[in-house]
Amino acid sequence: MARSLVAVLLLVALAHARHEKYEGHQLYSIWGPSQEIADLDAKLDILSAKAASASGQLEALLRLAPEEKEAWLQYFDTKNIGYKLMAENLADIFREEDVKIQKSKANAKRNGRSISWDTYYNAEEINEHLDELGRKYPDLVTVINPALSYEGRQIKYVRISTSRFEDLRKRVIIIDAAVHAREWVTTPVALYIIDQLVANIADNRLTEQLDWVIIPMANPDGYEYTINEDRLWRKTRSKAHEGAEECPGVDGNRNFDHHWGTRPESADPCSLIYEGPSAFSEPEIRVIRDVVNQHLDRAALYISLHSYGNMLLYAWGNNGTLPSNGLSLHLAGVQMATAIDKLKLDKAEHYIVGNAASVLYYSTGTSRDWTRAVGIPLTYTMELPGYEYLFVVPPEYIKQIVTESWAGIAEGARYVLSIYN
Ligand SMILES: *[C@@H]1O[C@H](CO)[C@@H](O)[C@H](O)[C@H]1NC(C)=O
Repeated sequence: MARSLVAVLLLVALAHARHEKYEGHQLYSIWGPSQEIADLDAKLDILSAKAASASGQLEALLRLAPEEKEAWLQYFDTKNIGYKLMAENLADIFREEDVKIQKSKANAKRNGRSISWDTYYNAEEINEHLDELGRKYPDLVTVINPALSYEGRQIKYVRISTSRFEDLRKRVIIIDAAVHAREWVTTPVALYIIDQLVANIADNRLTEQLDWVIIPMANPDGYEYTINEDRLWRKTRSKAHEGAEECPGVDGNRNFDHHWGTRPESADPCSLIYEGPSAFSEPEIRVIRDVVNQHLDRAALYISLHSYGNMLLYAWGNNGTLPSNGLSLHLAGVQMATAIDKLKLDKAEHYIVGNAASVLYYSTGTSRDWTRAVGIPLTYTMELPGYEYLFVVPPEYIKQIVTESWAGIAEGARYVLSIYN
């Protein structure tokens, strides 16, 4: 016992040192005209943004380092951008998170579970879990090792099928998670979907009448970097572009080949939304591309799990118009959202369903738009809840989020069965 206590204390001590880069960094909520806020995205660490009202205003969360704070607040004053302090010290928030995760992991171990819904796991633990599922349910689960990440980590995904993907009448559902590294809660949701399809089967039809491909950890390099170096890292960790020494990594959800290269904000390697040196430059994103292409003839629903904001967003993000099946996209989205809202916490906001550019802002190179353009009928970016914690969702909320999100995705799957079968 003394030994494990020492180990925990040591980890906590290391963790404390690790978050020093955010010592004294504050979090602000800001609001103002959409384009003005969106333009800040390239210069500042905007953590998230959402429409404030129907008035064309955007509300965003922003991290400000102590040394830049005064200048930016003055700039906001001159531009009539409103702001409000949300958190005093990000480093404290990350340290609290570390302590909680250590505790819940220790609890899970004591209870002899390999994985539980009250803590976060590292990339290796997640891969082990997937391999274990493959061994335990060989007739249902196939673990694929399609490619390595830029830094050489395995990007595993699972194929779930009662007919080994050979029944060509079945529709395919494709889900990915953790394209954005700091959006930790997305991976437990992907793992829970797998669990509900293979281990604790909730609705037979969803397992038997559909084939599923689930990529729970699409960006392991970025994810490990959030664990070990910088909790707020979003991009990949590639260095294949000019300027990579100073600004490594690419925003995976700007790297798809759909209107790629048409927005100046995404061309700057130092931007949070850098699209990469070419479309599909990132090995992690090519894995998603290849999965989609491989199943294009049968794929009916694609969901990219993101965090946070309680939103189901559909195409076209590049220009704000609707695809030809806009009505279906909205209808299926509303059905998913309704199922989620039934289970949501009182303090959570209702899901917003809508066109990505209308609800949020214009974006290019997204997986949602690319998958729709190449022919999957129903494609969404799904923004999970963050409550007041933003990306740093405390582990005690994981159970709630995986449960309600599964309810929504199961509803989406039923919609697919009702329409396309
Ligand atoms: C908006 O973008 C979509 C996707 O590329 C395209 O099909 C559509 O024609 C565009 N609409 C307008 C008005 O530019």
